[in-house]
Parts: sequence; structure tokens; C-alpha cells
Amino acid sequence: MWKSILTVGMALTLGGCLDIPEQTSETTRWQNPPLPGPGNSPDADTELRTLISAFKLTGDPVREIQPPAITSPKARLGMKLFFSRALGGDMDVACASCHHPLLGGGDELSLSIGVGARNLEILGHGRKTANREPPQVPRNAPTTFNIALWQQHIFHDGRIAALADGGITTPDVPWPQPDPEAGRNLVQAQARFPLTSSHEMRGENFDPDGTNQSCRRLIAERLGGYGSRQGELSSRETAYWLEQFRNAWNTPDGLPNTLITEQNISIALSEYERSQVFVANPWSAYVQGDNAAISEQAKKGALLFYRPAGSGGYGCVNCHSGDFFTDEQFYHTLMPPVGPGKQVGNMPDDGLDRGRELVTGKSVDRFRFRTPSLLNVEVTGPWGHNGAYTTLAGVIRHMMDPFLNGLNYDRKQVLQQNIQSDELQERMRYILACDVQLPGQDYSGEDVQHMLAFLLSLTDPCVKDKACMAPWIPADDGGSGLHLQARGPDGRPL
Ligand code: HEC
Ligand code: HEC
Repeated sequence: MWKSILTVGMALTLGGCLDIPEQTSETTRWQNPPLPGPGNSPDADTELRTLISAFKLTGDPVREIQPPAITSPKARLGMKLFFSRALGGDMDVACASCHHPLLGGGDELSLSIGVGARNLEILGHGRKTANREPPQVPRNAPTTFNIALWQQHIFHDGRIAALADGGITTPDVPWPQPDPEAGRNLVQAQARFPLTSSHEMRGENFDPDGTNQSCRRLIAERLGGYGSRQGELSSRETAYWLEQFRNAWNTPDGLPNTLITEQNISIALSEYERSQVFVANPWSAYVQGDNAAISEQAKKGALLFYRPAGSGGYGCVNCHSGDFFTDEQFYHTLMPPVGPGKQVGNMPDDGLDRGRELVTGKSVDRFRFRTPSLLNVEVTGPWGHNGAYTTLAGVIRHMMDPFLNGLNYDRKQVLQQNIQSDELQERMRYILACDVQLPGQDYSGEDVQHMLAFLLSLTDPCVKDKACMAPWIPADDGGSGLHLQARGPDGRPL
């Protein structure tokens, strides 16, 4: 059935996409390792153990990375900053407004709402824009969980990236040049950007003619109570922050203007985020030798995930590879283009989000997005770069057959108000004209259930346990003022 629609799509030779070669220099194609054929091994454990060693899985995605403990002084300070609305231009949005530890490190919305929320403390499904306006942030907030494990690309389009020679490129410099201010790692480089974004945290009126760097500097001056933003916080609040920074940097006599700087703010934020390592899931235990760690259903799902497409599986591992379940590369997967789209520079403002092309400027990258990690995917919905899918089974079906599911996508599943989905069929045909990199094949409902059971085995139980998550949530404002009191849709504390 999709084939006839595909033909319609092919007829629209839009954007030169039909000429796109299948591979880019950035995309390393995965090679099938020698595998036992389906049915050759009646024993799921035996076949899975062969696959695990063929794909060199260790069950430990952290390996040589050394994330800080949440008890470390800088991570503790970072947590307080992460929950403080003082980082928002109009003091109404905190990082935690869109990345709350009890909401899977995200916000449970398809598209995030930053500044301009009707009630700034309500998070999750109940968070709405004032005046019922469409959300202005065009993308879904990814989880901050396991953020320390990314080695190459941050953001859905990878606009923050580690360069081969050791530097980090960011949107502050022409791609792919190194940004001298990026900081010590990808997470710090990222933490410097949300406060400069007018839709996320900055608002329209804070330092409106300034640069990203002047915006960061002014926020630091506000927290430190020095320079031109002196007096925006009470003296009790600035004294609180000074004490916190002195503790974290172990400099009892440190001065506000040398200690409370944009670099130190982003270091503390990133140490907090990097401490959010949640990888103790049943699948890891299975990989490490415990055959009883996952259900028979999950084992069937794992076989479907790791076997090649057409050989009794779906080859999901082609892209969701390794212990972190991502190759950190970019693919066009025909994600239904709901939402306002993203316009950058001189790209056409046609309501679409061209993904990686917005960074590289290459049409070969059109509609490609970074392969997400699947660790804790159970709690990180809605799924897709724009939150198009609001059930995990739905996005699994899409990954099994993007043509059938993308073209029959039910826009009613997006419950959030005012998410643009006009002209969806026309837009689907447009993006269909560009090389879709998911093969797509027939699947059974049983396969979907098995795949779901497998993906649920990637959840670290801690992320669903309020008591276990407590160390990552500040108990109270302690004197900082402007502490985000996160509430659920019912108005009760999360
Ligand atoms: C208005 C909601 C909002 C706020 C506030 C916000 N973020 Fe985000 N965050 C997002 C969205 C949306 C993205 C994805 C943007 C993209 O990929 O283009 C994102 C991406 C990220 C990522 C990258 C994740 C990945 O997998 O690549 C990190 C890390 C992050 N944010 C941390 C922060 C920090 C730290 C703050 C506060 C300084 C913050 N965010 C404030 C919505 C928000
Ligand atoms: C060709 C590479 C590729 C293959 C093969 C692939 N995926 Fe994906 N997957 C992606 C990309 C890229 C995205 C993000 C798409 C977007 O946001 O627009 C994604 C998104 C997802 C998501 C949503 C995650 C989130 O956080 O939003 C899930 C779940 C998923 N894939 C599971 C699977 C399963 C199961 C299979 C096998 C049936 C599979 N994928 C095959 C590249 C791939």
C-alpha cells in the first residue's frame, strides 16, 4: 500500500533529494558479522550469546568514562543551579523545567515549553503555553540521563560535536571549527547554550541586542551580585550562591567575579548532569552472564533487534549499536513532521525541520537526525526528535516499517495543544522524496510485543523510583530563592 504513495512521493522531485547517494563520509555502514541463521539454534540464550560476542557487547556502557558522583561538591552545586530559575532571563525557567529527573530527564511533552508557560511550576502533561499559543521550541527535549556517555554528537542534529583533533565545535563558531570557549567536555559545551536561547530560557527582553556570550556573562553577574546586574537577586540570595561556589571550588576567600563566572556555572551544571548515570538494567545483567535476568519475551525481542533485517530480525543494531545503543550518526527515518519545524540561516522557512542539514549545509544530510540511545527509553517519551510518537509501541512499529506507519500516522496521538500538523500528507511526501534510510519490512503484532519487552529491559529501575532519584533533586531552596518547585498536572509536587 505504501508503494503507491511512495510513487506519488517520487514524482515530486523536490530539493534534489532523489539524487542523494546512499552513504556519506560520516556514515560508517555496519557490516554483518557471521551469525547463526535463524532456527539454526533452538536455544535463544545460545544464539544471543553468539550475537553479544559478535557485536562486542560488554553490558557496561560507562567503561573508561569517569562520571562524577552526585555527592561531589561541584555536582551538588550544579544541581542547585539546574533547578534555579535565576538562570532564565526573566527568572521564570530553569533547566529542570524541561529536564526533570522524575520525568525521565525530560519533560513528557512532545515539544518543550520554556518561557511563556501559563504556570511556570507545572511540568509534564499539564504544562501549557500562556494564551494557548503553539510551543515555540521546535524539538523534543532529550533526556539528560547518561549524557556523559555521548562521545561525538550532542543535540538531535549534532551541532555540538567532538572534533577529531580534540576540540569541540558549537553554534558559536562556524561549523566545524573548534570553539575556544566550549569548555572541557561535550556536556559543559552544551550547558552554555540553553540560557542564550530566547525560546528556552532567555526570553525576548533579556539583553536583546547582546551576544550569546554577553547573555551568559550577565546571568553570572546576576548570580554573583556584581557588575551591571547587581541587585537583581537579594543580598541573601547572592550570599548563598557565593557560599555554594566557594564550597564547590574549595576557595573560602574566592570573590564573586572570579568564582561565579559563566565557565564555572557551566562546569557545575555539567558535573551534575554527568552524574546522572543510570545503566543498571536487566539487559546489562544478561549481557554479563545472568541468563535469568530478562524474560523469554525480552529474549525474543533481543533476537529481533540484533538479527539482520530479512533474516528473522530487523537489524536495529545497525544504528542502535554498542552498549549505549547508538552509533551517534545521522539518519533519515521518515519521522512524521509535526510541529513548527526549524528555520536556520538562509534555509527555506517551509515549516520543516531539516535536521543535520541545518548544521552541515549539505543536502545529503536533509531530514537526518542523530540515532538516540535506547537506555531508559521507557521513560523518555514522547519519542522522536519532535515527539511525534506518544507510545513506545508506536515508535517501534515506525522503526519496523516507517513507510506503512509514517504514512498512516495518526496525528491525534499528540495530545499537547496546538502542535502544528497541517499538510501532514504533503509534507510526508516531500520528505519521502529524500533517501529514507530505514528499510522497512512486514512485521507481526507479536514481534512488536517482543521488541517492547526487550526495550523495557533497558530501564534502570532507579529512574522509576522516587526515593532512588532523591539525591538528584534538591530538597528545598536552601536560600537560593527562585528554586523551581516542580508540580505535576494536578498541582501537587512531583
Ligand atoms: C524549554 C525547555 C528546555 C530548557 C529550559 C532546557 N532545555 Fe535542554 N533541551 C531542550 C530541547 C528541546 C533540546 C533538544 C534541542 C535540539 O536538539 O535541537 C535540549 C537538549 C539538551 C541536551 C542535549 C541532550 C542530547 O541528548 O544531546 C542537554 C544535555 C540539555 N538540553 C541540558 C540542558 C541544561 C543544562 C539546561 C539549563 C542550562 C537546559 N537543557 C534547559 C529543552 C530545554
Ligand atoms: C538506519 C538507522 C536506524 C535503524 C536501523 C533503527 N533506528 Fe531507531 N532510530 C534511528 C534514528 C535516527 C532515530 C531518531 C529519529 C528522529 O528523531 O527523527 C531513531 C529513534 C528510535 C526510537 C525513539 C527513541 C527516542 O528517544 O525518541 C526507538 C524506540 C527506536 N529508534 C527503536 C528502534 C528499533 C526497535 C529498531 C529496529 C526495529 C530501530 N530503531 C532501527 C535510527 C535507526
